[in-house]
Amino acid sequence: MKTERRPRRFLLRNLVLHFRPTTVPEPTLKFTFTWGLGGMAVVLVMLQIVTGVMLKFVYEPIATQAYASVIHLQNDVPFGGFIRNIHFWSANFLVVAVFLHLLRVFFTGAFHAGRRFTWVVGLILFFLVLASNFTGYLLPWDQLAYWAVTISTGMLEYVPGIGLRIQHLVRGGPEIGQATLGIFFALHTAVIPILMGGLMAFHFWRIRKAGGLAVSRPPENEPDAAPASVPVVPGLLIREAVVALLVIAFVCLMAAAIDTPVGAPANPGLSPNPTKAPWYFGGFQEMLLHFHPSFAVFVIPAIIFFALLLVPYVNLEETGAGIWFASRTGRRTAAIAAVSAVLFTGLLVFLDEFYMDWTGWMPDVSPFLSTGLIPAAGCFVVVAGCYLSARKLFSATRMEALQAGFVFLTVSFVVMTLTCALFRGQGMRLMWPWP
Ligand code: HEM
Repeated sequence: MKTERRPRRFLLRNLVLHFRPTTVPEPTLKFTFTWGLGGMAVVLVMLQIVTGVMLKFVYEPIATQAYASVIHLQNDVPFGGFIRNIHFWSANFLVVAVFLHLLRVFFTGAFHAGRRFTWVVGLILFFLVLASNFTGYLLPWDQLAYWAVTISTGMLEYVPGIGLRIQHLVRGGPEIGQATLGIFFALHTAVIPILMGGLMAFHFWRIRKAGGLAVSRPPENEPDAAPASVPVVPGLLIREAVVALLVIAFVCLMAAAIDTPVGAPANPGLSPNPTKAPWYFGGFQEMLLHFHPSFAVFVIPAIIFFALLLVPYVNLEETGAGIWFASRTGRRTAAIAAVSAVLFTGLLVFLDEFYMDWTGWMPDVSPFLSTGLIPAAGCFVVVAGCYLSARKLFSATRMEALQAGFVFLTVSFVVMTLTCALFRGQGMRLMWPWP
Protein backbone atom coordinates (compact mmCIF):
# COMPACT_ATOMS: atom_id res chain seq x y z
CA MET A 1 0.00 0.00 0.00
CA LYS A 2 1.30 3.40 -0.95
CA THR A 3 1.81 5.71 2.04
CA GLU A 4 1.58 9.41 1.50
CA ARG A 5 4.77 11.35 2.26
CA ARG A 6 4.29 14.19 4.66
CA PRO A 7 5.70 17.46 3.37
CA ARG A 8 8.77 18.66 5.26
CA ARG A 9 7.08 21.95 6.04
CA PHE A 10 4.40 20.06 7.93
CA LEU A 11 7.02 18.38 10.13
CA LEU A 12 8.83 21.66 10.80
CA ARG A 13 5.56 23.38 11.65
CA ASN A 14 4.61 20.53 13.97
CA LEU A 15 7.95 20.59 15.77
CA VAL A 16 7.89 24.36 16.21
CA LEU A 17 4.33 24.29 17.54
CA HIS A 18 5.37 21.91 20.31
CA PHE A 19 7.31 24.84 21.74
CA ARG A 20 5.17 27.71 20.57
CA PRO A 21 1.46 28.61 20.41
CA THR A 22 0.06 28.67 16.84
CA THR A 23 -0.42 32.42 16.90
CA VAL A 24 1.11 35.23 18.94
CA PRO A 25 0.07 38.88 19.49
CA GLU A 26 1.59 41.03 16.74
CA PRO A 27 3.30 43.61 19.04
CA THR A 28 5.53 40.84 20.49
CA LEU A 29 7.23 40.46 17.09
CA LYS A 30 8.73 43.95 17.41
CA PHE A 31 12.45 43.46 18.10
CA THR A 32 12.69 46.28 20.66
CA PHE A 33 9.96 44.64 22.77
CA THR A 34 12.11 41.65 23.84
CA TRP A 35 15.43 42.47 22.10
CA GLY A 36 15.41 38.75 21.30
CA LEU A 37 17.18 38.15 24.63
CA GLY A 38 15.47 34.88 25.62
CA GLY A 39 16.16 33.48 22.14
CA MET A 40 19.78 34.66 22.34
CA ALA A 41 20.14 32.81 25.66
CA VAL A 42 18.83 29.63 24.02
CA VAL A 43 21.36 29.91 21.18
CA LEU A 44 24.22 30.59 23.59
CA VAL A 45 23.26 27.57 25.71
CA MET A 46 23.31 25.43 22.56
CA LEU A 47 26.74 26.76 21.59
CA GLN A 48 27.89 25.89 25.10
CA ILE A 49 26.67 22.32 24.81
CA VAL A 50 28.09 21.67 21.33
CA THR A 51 31.54 23.13 22.08
CA GLY A 52 31.56 21.67 25.62
CA VAL A 53 31.09 18.14 24.26
CA MET A 54 33.99 18.73 21.84
CA LEU A 55 36.26 20.03 24.62
CA LYS A 56 35.53 16.94 26.69
CA PHE A 57 37.41 14.78 24.16
CA VAL A 58 40.70 16.44 25.12
CA TYR A 59 40.32 17.95 28.60
CA GLU A 60 41.64 15.92 31.60
CA PRO A 61 39.91 16.68 34.93
CA ILE A 62 43.01 15.78 36.97
CA ALA A 63 44.85 18.52 38.84
CA THR A 64 48.30 17.46 37.58
CA GLN A 65 47.18 17.21 33.94
CA ALA A 66 44.32 19.70 33.50
CA TYR A 67 46.52 22.70 32.62
CA ALA A 68 48.67 20.71 30.17
CA SER A 69 45.56 19.32 28.46
CA VAL A 70 44.23 22.86 27.93
CA ILE A 71 47.56 24.03 26.46
CA HIS A 72 47.65 20.93 24.23
CA LEU A 73 44.08 21.65 23.11
CA GLN A 74 44.96 25.22 22.31
CA ASN A 75 48.27 24.62 20.53
CA ASP A 76 48.11 21.16 18.93
CA VAL A 77 44.49 20.20 18.29
CA PRO A 78 43.11 21.52 14.96
CA PHE A 79 40.60 24.31 15.77
CA GLY A 80 41.03 23.46 19.48
CA GLY A 81 41.74 27.08 20.43
CA PHE A 82 38.84 28.35 18.32
CA ILE A 83 36.38 25.91 19.92
CA ARG A 84 37.64 26.82 23.38
CA ASN A 85 37.22 30.52 22.50
CA ILE A 86 33.61 29.96 21.35
CA HIS A 87 32.91 28.15 24.63
CA PHE A 88 34.46 31.01 26.63
CA TRP A 89 32.75 33.87 24.79
CA SER A 90 29.33 32.22 24.65
CA ALA A 91 29.55 31.48 28.40
CA ASN A 92 30.25 35.13 29.22
CA PHE A 93 27.65 36.51 26.82
CA LEU A 94 25.14 34.05 28.30
CA VAL A 95 25.45 35.67 31.74
CA VAL A 96 24.88 39.10 30.18
CA ALA A 97 22.00 37.91 27.95
CA VAL A 98 20.14 36.14 30.78
CA PHE A 99 20.60 39.08 33.13
CA LEU A 100 19.26 41.50 30.49
CA HIS A 101 16.39 39.08 29.75
CA LEU A 102 15.50 39.10 33.47
CA LEU A 103 15.48 42.92 33.38
CA ARG A 104 13.36 43.02 30.21
CA VAL A 105 10.79 40.65 31.77
CA PHE A 106 10.74 42.73 34.96
CA PHE A 107 10.51 46.11 33.27
CA THR A 108 7.77 45.03 30.85
CA GLY A 109 5.81 43.69 33.85
CA ALA A 110 5.64 40.21 32.30
CA PHE A 111 5.50 38.29 35.58
CA HIS A 112 1.84 38.59 36.58
CA ALA A 113 -0.80 35.83 36.77
CA GLY A 114 -0.13 33.04 34.25
CA ARG A 115 3.57 33.87 34.21
CA ARG A 116 4.40 33.83 37.93
CA PHE A 117 5.94 30.41 37.96
CA THR A 118 7.73 31.09 34.63
CA TRP A 119 9.47 33.92 36.49
CA VAL A 120 10.42 31.67 39.43
CA VAL A 121 11.80 29.00 37.06
CA GLY A 122 13.66 31.77 35.22
CA LEU A 123 15.29 32.90 38.46
CA ILE A 124 16.50 29.33 39.11
CA LEU A 125 17.82 29.23 35.53
CA PHE A 126 19.73 32.44 36.18
CA PHE A 127 21.46 30.86 39.18
CA LEU A 128 22.25 27.76 37.17
CA VAL A 129 23.83 29.92 34.46
CA LEU A 130 26.04 31.58 37.10
CA ALA A 131 26.88 28.20 38.64
CA SER A 132 27.72 26.76 35.24
CA ASN A 133 30.07 29.66 34.52
CA PHE A 134 31.68 29.51 37.91
CA THR A 135 32.29 25.75 37.91
CA GLY A 136 33.82 26.03 34.42
CA TYR A 137 36.13 28.83 35.60
CA LEU A 138 38.28 26.44 37.66
CA LEU A 139 38.81 23.80 34.96
CA PRO A 140 41.88 25.29 33.16
CA TRP A 141 43.67 25.07 36.52
CA ASP A 142 45.77 28.19 35.93
CA GLN A 143 46.59 30.97 38.39
CA LEU A 144 43.58 33.03 37.27
CA ALA A 145 41.18 30.12 37.82
CA TYR A 146 42.71 28.84 41.04
CA TRP A 147 42.73 32.18 42.82
CA ALA A 148 39.40 33.46 41.51
CA VAL A 149 37.75 30.29 42.83
CA THR A 150 39.70 30.56 46.11
CA ILE A 151 38.38 34.12 46.59
CA SER A 152 34.79 33.28 45.61
CA THR A 153 34.50 30.11 47.70
CA GLY A 154 36.25 32.03 50.51
CA MET A 155 33.20 34.35 50.59
CA LEU A 156 31.01 31.37 51.60
CA GLU A 157 32.76 31.34 54.98
CA TYR A 158 30.73 34.40 55.95
CA VAL A 159 27.32 32.72 55.68
CA PRO A 160 26.33 32.81 59.37
CA GLY A 161 26.48 29.49 61.22
CA ILE A 162 26.94 27.04 58.37
CA GLY A 163 29.38 29.00 56.18
CA LEU A 164 32.45 26.80 56.78
CA ARG A 165 30.45 23.63 56.23
CA ILE A 166 29.09 24.89 52.90
CA GLN A 167 32.57 25.97 51.91
CA HIS A 168 34.04 22.52 52.64
CA LEU A 169 31.18 20.87 50.77
CA VAL A 170 31.80 23.00 47.67
CA ARG A 171 35.58 22.61 47.84
CA GLY A 172 35.46 18.93 48.79
CA GLY A 173 37.69 19.80 51.79
CA PRO A 174 39.26 22.83 53.43
CA GLU A 175 41.43 23.81 50.41
CA ILE A 176 41.01 23.95 46.64
CA GLY A 177 42.52 20.74 45.23
CA GLN A 178 41.82 17.58 43.23
CA ALA A 179 38.53 17.01 45.08
CA THR A 180 37.34 20.52 44.10
CA LEU A 181 38.30 19.94 40.47
CA GLY A 182 36.39 16.63 40.45
CA ILE A 183 33.28 18.22 41.99
CA PHE A 184 33.36 21.24 39.67
CA PHE A 185 33.89 19.04 36.60
CA ALA A 186 30.92 16.79 37.47
CA LEU A 187 28.69 19.80 38.18
CA HIS A 188 29.82 21.66 35.05
CA THR A 189 29.54 18.81 32.56
CA ALA A 190 26.65 16.74 33.93
CA VAL A 191 24.53 18.01 36.83
CA ILE A 192 24.04 21.64 35.79
CA PRO A 193 23.46 20.96 32.03
CA ILE A 194 20.84 18.28 32.85
CA LEU A 195 19.04 20.58 35.32
CA MET A 196 19.18 23.45 32.85
CA GLY A 197 17.86 21.33 29.98
CA GLY A 198 14.87 20.18 32.06
CA LEU A 199 14.09 23.64 33.41
CA MET A 200 14.44 25.30 30.01
CA ALA A 201 11.91 22.85 28.52
CA PHE A 202 9.57 23.66 31.41
CA HIS A 203 10.17 27.42 30.93
CA PHE A 204 9.17 27.21 27.24
CA TRP A 205 6.14 25.07 28.02
CA ARG A 206 4.93 27.66 30.55
CA ILE A 207 5.38 30.47 28.00
CA ARG A 208 3.40 28.44 25.43
CA LYS A 209 0.66 27.76 27.98
CA ALA A 210 0.40 31.48 28.75
CA GLY A 211 -0.34 32.03 25.02
CA GLY A 212 3.00 33.65 24.18
CA LEU A 213 4.41 36.82 25.67
CA ALA A 214 2.59 39.34 27.84
CA VAL A 215 1.17 42.32 25.93
CA SER A 216 -0.79 45.32 27.11
CA ARG A 217 -4.48 44.52 27.40
CA PRO A 218 -7.13 46.89 25.97
CA PRO A 219 -9.48 48.61 28.43
CA GLU A 220 -12.54 46.46 29.26
CA ASN A 221 -14.92 48.79 27.38
CA GLU A 222 -12.81 48.56 24.19
CA PRO A 223 -12.39 44.86 23.42
CA ASP A 224 -11.88 45.65 19.71
CA ALA A 225 -8.60 47.39 20.55
CA ALA A 226 -7.00 44.00 21.39
CA PRO A 227 -3.79 43.49 19.38
CA ALA A 228 -4.07 41.32 16.26
CA SER A 229 -2.66 37.79 16.38
CA VAL A 230 -0.27 36.51 13.70
CA PRO A 231 0.82 32.92 12.93
CA VAL A 232 4.09 31.86 14.55
CA VAL A 233 5.28 30.23 11.29
CA PRO A 234 6.78 32.09 9.50
CA GLY A 235 6.48 35.49 11.33
CA LEU A 236 8.23 34.64 14.59
CA LEU A 237 10.31 31.75 13.25
CA ILE A 238 12.11 33.89 10.67
CA ARG A 239 12.91 36.56 13.22
CA GLU A 240 14.27 33.98 15.67
CA ALA A 241 16.42 32.42 12.92
CA VAL A 242 17.89 35.85 12.06
CA VAL A 243 18.72 36.55 15.73
CA ALA A 244 20.26 33.07 16.11
CA LEU A 245 22.48 33.48 13.03
CA LEU A 246 23.61 36.95 14.12
CA VAL A 247 24.48 35.67 17.62
CA ILE A 248 26.46 32.74 16.19
CA ALA A 249 28.29 35.05 13.76
CA PHE A 250 29.13 37.51 16.54
CA VAL A 251 30.44 34.81 18.91
CA CYS A 252 32.56 33.29 16.10
CA LEU A 253 34.01 36.73 15.29
CA MET A 254 34.91 37.31 18.94
CA ALA A 255 36.40 33.81 19.15
CA ALA A 256 38.51 34.45 16.06
CA ALA A 257 39.68 37.87 17.29
CA ILE A 258 40.30 37.41 21.04
CA ASP A 259 41.76 34.32 22.71
CA THR A 260 40.53 32.97 26.03
CA PRO A 261 42.99 34.14 28.68
CA VAL A 262 45.26 31.45 30.11
CA GLY A 263 47.77 32.29 32.83
CA ALA A 264 50.64 30.40 34.43
CA PRO A 265 49.82 26.97 35.95
CA ALA A 266 47.99 27.12 39.31
CA ASN A 267 50.36 27.78 42.20
CA PRO A 268 48.69 27.48 45.61
CA GLY A 269 51.74 29.12 47.24
CA LEU A 270 51.68 32.35 45.19
CA SER A 271 48.57 34.53 45.16
CA PRO A 272 48.42 37.30 42.53
CA ASN A 273 47.85 40.86 43.73
CA PRO A 274 45.04 41.81 43.37
CA THR A 275 43.15 38.51 43.42
CA LYS A 276 39.74 39.04 41.89
CA ALA A 277 36.62 36.88 41.72
CA PRO A 278 35.12 36.24 38.24
CA TRP A 279 33.66 39.51 36.90
CA TYR A 280 30.02 38.51 37.58
CA PHE A 281 30.81 38.17 41.32
CA GLY A 282 32.73 41.47 41.31
CA GLY A 283 29.75 43.35 42.78
CA PHE A 284 29.83 41.08 45.85
CA GLN A 285 33.62 41.42 46.16
CA GLU A 286 33.20 45.19 46.04
CA MET A 287 30.47 45.04 48.72
CA LEU A 288 32.90 43.06 50.90
CA LEU A 289 35.13 46.14 50.97
CA HIS A 290 32.33 48.30 52.34
CA PHE A 291 30.10 46.09 54.50
CA HIS A 292 30.55 43.51 57.23
CA PRO A 293 31.21 40.22 55.33
CA SER A 294 28.00 38.55 56.60
CA PHE A 295 25.98 41.40 55.10
CA ALA A 296 27.95 41.58 51.84
CA VAL A 297 27.74 37.90 50.95
CA PHE A 298 24.63 36.75 52.78
CA VAL A 299 22.12 39.17 54.33
CA ILE A 300 21.86 41.70 51.46
CA PRO A 301 21.92 39.10 48.59
CA ALA A 302 19.40 36.90 50.48
CA ILE A 303 16.97 39.80 50.99
CA ILE A 304 17.21 40.79 47.30
CA PHE A 305 16.82 37.16 46.17
CA PHE A 306 13.66 36.58 48.24
CA ALA A 307 12.25 39.94 47.17
CA LEU A 308 12.74 38.92 43.51
CA LEU A 309 11.23 35.51 44.15
CA LEU A 310 8.12 37.00 45.75
CA VAL A 311 7.62 39.94 43.43
CA PRO A 312 5.07 38.17 41.13
CA TYR A 313 2.98 37.29 44.18
CA VAL A 314 2.69 40.89 45.47
CA ASN A 315 -0.49 42.75 44.70
CA LEU A 316 0.62 45.14 41.91
CA GLU A 317 -1.36 46.87 39.18
CA GLU A 318 -1.32 44.88 35.94
CA THR A 319 -2.39 47.80 33.75
CA GLY A 320 1.14 48.49 32.49
CA ALA A 321 2.00 44.84 31.77
CA GLY A 322 3.55 44.43 28.32
CA ILE A 323 4.74 48.07 28.18
CA TRP A 324 8.31 49.07 29.00
CA PHE A 325 8.22 50.71 32.47
CA ALA A 326 4.40 50.72 32.28
CA SER A 327 3.93 54.37 31.20
CA ARG A 328 5.66 57.70 30.56
CA THR A 329 5.72 58.34 34.29
CA GLY A 330 7.36 54.94 34.81
CA ARG A 331 10.04 55.73 32.23
CA ARG A 332 10.74 59.12 33.85
CA THR A 333 11.03 57.73 37.39
CA ALA A 334 13.23 54.88 36.12
CA ALA A 335 15.60 57.33 34.40
CA ILE A 336 15.83 59.49 37.53
CA ALA A 337 16.46 56.38 39.68
CA ALA A 338 19.25 55.25 37.33
CA VAL A 339 21.07 58.61 37.43
CA SER A 340 20.66 58.84 41.23
CA ALA A 341 22.08 55.31 41.64
CA VAL A 342 25.21 56.13 39.63
CA LEU A 343 25.85 59.29 41.67
CA PHE A 344 24.94 57.76 45.05
CA THR A 345 26.94 54.54 44.63
CA GLY A 346 29.95 56.22 43.01
CA LEU A 347 30.08 58.83 45.77
CA LEU A 348 29.71 56.27 48.57
CA VAL A 349 32.47 54.03 47.15
CA PHE A 350 34.77 57.05 46.94
CA LEU A 351 33.91 58.40 50.42
CA ASP A 352 34.19 54.98 52.04
CA GLU A 353 37.63 54.50 50.49
CA PHE A 354 39.10 57.80 51.69
CA TYR A 355 36.97 59.39 54.41
CA MET A 356 34.48 57.09 56.08
CA ASP A 357 35.54 54.99 59.07
CA TRP A 358 32.51 53.28 60.64
CA THR A 359 34.47 51.35 63.29
CA GLY A 360 36.48 54.46 64.23
CA TRP A 361 33.29 56.53 64.56
CA MET A 362 31.61 53.89 66.72
CA PRO A 363 34.48 52.27 68.68
CA ASP A 364 32.21 50.75 71.33
CA VAL A 365 29.77 49.19 68.89
CA SER A 366 30.36 45.69 67.48
CA PRO A 367 31.51 45.67 63.80
CA PHE A 368 28.39 43.58 62.99
CA LEU A 369 26.36 46.70 63.81
CA SER A 370 28.74 49.48 62.81
CA THR A 371 29.83 48.04 59.42
CA GLY A 372 26.83 45.75 58.85
CA LEU A 373 23.40 46.51 60.17
CA ILE A 374 23.66 50.33 60.32
CA PRO A 375 25.07 51.00 56.79
CA ALA A 376 22.90 48.24 55.24
CA ALA A 377 19.78 49.69 56.91
CA GLY A 378 20.87 53.10 55.57
CA CYS A 379 21.01 51.71 52.02
CA PHE A 380 17.57 50.10 52.34
CA VAL A 381 16.17 53.42 53.58
CA VAL A 382 17.54 55.04 50.40
CA VAL A 383 15.87 52.39 48.17
CA ALA A 384 12.62 52.77 50.12
CA GLY A 385 13.01 56.55 49.67
CA CYS A 386 13.27 55.95 45.92
CA TYR A 387 9.96 54.04 46.00
CA LEU A 388 8.20 56.65 48.14
CA SER A 389 9.44 59.64 46.12
CA ALA A 390 8.20 57.99 42.92
CA ARG A 391 4.78 57.50 44.58
CA LYS A 392 4.50 60.94 46.19
CA LEU A 393 6.37 63.27 43.80
CA PHE A 394 5.44 61.64 40.47
CA SER A 395 2.15 59.93 41.41
CA ALA A 396 3.62 56.67 40.13
CA THR A 397 1.61 53.46 40.52
CA ARG A 398 2.91 50.79 42.94
CA MET A 399 4.31 48.87 39.96
CA GLU A 400 6.12 51.93 38.55
CA ALA A 401 7.52 52.86 41.96
CA LEU A 402 8.75 49.29 42.49
CA GLN A 403 10.43 49.38 39.10
CA ALA A 404 12.15 52.65 40.06
CA GLY A 405 13.47 50.97 43.25
CA PHE A 406 14.65 47.98 41.24
CA VAL A 407 16.38 50.24 38.68
CA PHE A 408 18.22 51.88 41.59
CA LEU A 409 19.40 48.52 42.98
CA THR A 410 20.40 47.16 39.56
CA VAL A 411 22.37 50.24 38.51
CA SER A 412 24.02 50.33 41.93
CA PHE A 413 25.12 46.70 41.56
CA VAL A 414 26.43 47.33 38.03
CA VAL A 415 28.45 50.34 39.29
CA MET A 416 29.99 48.15 42.02
CA THR A 417 30.76 45.37 39.53
CA LEU A 418 32.49 47.84 37.19
CA THR A 419 34.38 49.42 40.10
CA CYS A 420 35.74 46.02 41.14
CA ALA A 421 36.60 44.96 37.58
CA LEU A 422 38.15 48.22 36.35
CA PHE A 423 39.03 50.51 39.24
CA ARG A 424 40.62 48.18 41.79
CA GLY A 425 44.35 47.60 41.69
CA GLN A 426 47.04 46.29 44.07
CA GLY A 427 45.67 45.57 47.55
CA MET A 428 42.19 46.22 46.07
CA ARG A 429 42.80 49.96 46.34
CA LEU A 430 40.91 52.39 44.08
CA MET A 431 42.96 53.39 41.01
CA TRP A 432 42.49 54.56 37.43
CA PRO A 433 42.38 51.66 34.96
CA TRP A 434 44.97 53.39 32.76
CA PRO A 435 48.52 54.25 33.94
C1 HEM B 1 18.92 30.07 30.56
C2 HEM B 1 18.10 31.03 30.90
C3 HEM B 1 16.84 31.45 30.16
C4 HEM B 1 16.40 31.12 28.90
C5 HEM B 1 17.12 30.26 27.87
C6 HEM B 1 15.13 31.79 28.70
C7 HEM B 1 14.39 31.76 27.53
C8 HEM B 1 13.22 32.47 27.32
C9 HEM B 1 12.57 32.67 26.05
C10 HEM B 1 13.09 32.14 24.71
C11 HEM B 1 11.45 33.42 26.26
C12 HEM B 1 10.46 33.96 25.22
C13 HEM B 1 11.09 35.11 24.41
C14 HEM B 1 11.71 36.27 25.15
O1 HEM B 1 11.18 36.82 26.12
O2 HEM B 1 12.82 36.66 24.71
C15 HEM B 1 11.34 33.65 27.68
C16 HEM B 1 10.30 34.32 28.30
C17 HEM B 1 10.20 34.51 29.68
N1 HEM B 1 11.22 34.35 30.58
FE1 HEM B 1 12.99 33.42 30.21
N2 HEM B 1 14.79 32.46 29.85
C18 HEM B 1 15.82 32.30 30.76
C19 HEM B 1 15.90 32.89 32.01
C20 HEM B 1 14.90 33.66 32.58
C21 HEM B 1 15.03 34.45 33.78
C22 HEM B 1 16.34 34.63 34.55
C23 HEM B 1 13.81 34.98 34.06
C24 HEM B 1 13.39 35.85 35.21
C25 HEM B 1 13.70 35.66 36.44
C26 HEM B 1 12.89 34.55 33.03
C27 HEM B 1 11.53 34.80 32.98
C28 HEM B 1 10.76 34.72 31.83
C29 HEM B 1 9.36 35.08 31.73
C30 HEM B 1 8.45 35.53 32.89
C31 HEM B 1 9.02 34.95 30.38
C32 HEM B 1 7.65 35.26 29.77
C33 HEM B 1 7.73 36.71 29.36
C34 HEM B 1 6.47 37.25 28.73
O3 HEM B 1 5.43 36.62 28.84
O4 HEM B 1 6.57 38.36 28.16
N3 HEM B 1 13.60 33.79 32.12
N4 HEM B 1 12.44 33.09 28.30
